[in-house]
Amino acid sequence: MLSNFTKNINCSIFQNPSGLCVPKRFLEVFVVDTKGNKHTVPFEDGDNLFESIHEAGLDIIHGSCNGGIACGECVTLIPEERKEDVSEQEEDEADCLEATGNKIKNARLACGMILDEDSEGIVFTIAPFDN
Ligand code: FES
Repeated sequence: MLSNFTKNINCSIFQNPSGLCVPKRFLEVFVVDTKGNKHTVPFEDGDNLFESIHEAGLDIIHGSCNGGIACGECVTLIPEERKEDVSEQEEDEADCLEATGNKIKNARLACGMILDEDSEGIVFTIAPFDN
């Protein structure tokens, strides 16, 4: 009875294949800020880390280009064993990291990493330095 009811309403949250409305499932990663505090960051498949952190209401990462892969200020470290679980580094991100002198192993730009289901549970660390 309940499923018939839910199949007939306009589902603005998420409708699974059987037609039931269920809360949209967000995936999660974790981000350790420069003070060592660990934050949960929900995201959807295809979001980048920089945007996800801001959409979570966290004021823990900054970038004067506002996520444009240009300033090199959102350097974030990813664990070696999880490097393959985010998008590959594109040329513009590599150029930006090189131009800003960030050649730390496992450094990525938060705005250059696209997250997907494989990214769930990664613990990122915001690089503890300014550019
Ligand atoms: S916010 Fe500027 S490079 Fe990421």
